[in-house]
Amino acid sequence: MDLSIDPILDFTGKVAVITGAASGFGALVAEELGRRGARLVLGDINEAGLQSVVEKLTASGVEVQAMTCDVSSETDCAAMVALARENFGSLDIAINNAGIAPPMQHFEDVDEEIFDLQHRVNVKGVFFGMKHQLKVMRTQGSGVILNVSSMAGLGGAPKASSYSAAKHSVVGMTRTAAVEYARHNVRVNAICPFFTLTPMVTNMQAPEGATADQLHATFAAGCPMKRLGKPEEVVSAMLMLCSPALTYVTGQALAVDGGVSA
Ligand code: NAI
Repeated sequence: MDLSIDPILDFTGKVAVITGAASGFGALVAEELGRRGARLVLGDINEAGLQSVVEKLTASGVEVQAMTCDVSSETDCAAMVALARENFGSLDIAINNAGIAPPMQHFEDVDEEIFDLQHRVNVKGVFFGMKHQLKVMRTQGSGVILNVSSMAGLGGAPKASSYSAAKHSVVGMTRTAAVEYARHNVRVNAICPFFTLTPMVTNMQAPEGATADQLHATFAAGCPMKRLGKPEEVVSAMLMLCSPALTYVTGQALAVDGGVSA
């Protein structure tokens, strides 16, 4: 990816914590921030995936620390923040990205276990991260948090009720923290992507009798651009929201959706 607006996207010396960094948006945003000078603290439950991301970054000269982290554990989320402070002395950017998608089911078929799991990972994972990140950023008097919500966090999402509930919560926490911490020079925003071709979507189980391509075509039909997103299109929006140049943008939930919400 080459974004030729580098003064805006210069992250030299910034310290960034990223959850869910072993795959998809998390791995790509780590690579792009690293390439632009950031020092990174990465976490994921997927130890092997995380290790290969770390090896790639290290080989290209990026300073990176990593730990196996389950975001549904407050202890793990706090440990990522501590790792940033102990190794790099500050925390400038936190990207709460780790998340899971539920099986596609009608509302009436969703059981409590699925609903709880969505909230344990997609809501508590962001809450625990923010809680510890905000404390450090308030004390420093600066910082940027970016939460990864979804289009399902801005509107109805057929056959994804538990996911939609969880992602709406992420938007709510984002706006609340933005208002509460603005006076401490901490910005908090969210991105809300439409279906994008990361492993989360490419590995999605198609309904019986349909292929993955047919499922993707159905999603694309609902988008004015008539296609799914590319990971780099979402990551460029993530970089923009974390940019040191966007000093007056906070409390926003930015749709990255090919016009779906227009
Ligand atoms: P992905 O499946 O490629 O990556 C998600 C990463 O999160 C994986 O590395 C996974 O191991 C990690 N993870 C899952 N549970 C975790 C836990 N408990 N603790 C720590 N790490 C955990 O998927 P993708 O697309 O990169 O997803 C990133 C975020 O983007 C998620 O929050 C997802 O809900 C959101 N999103 C994705 C969209 C898409 O179409 N791909 C659309 C809208 C939002």
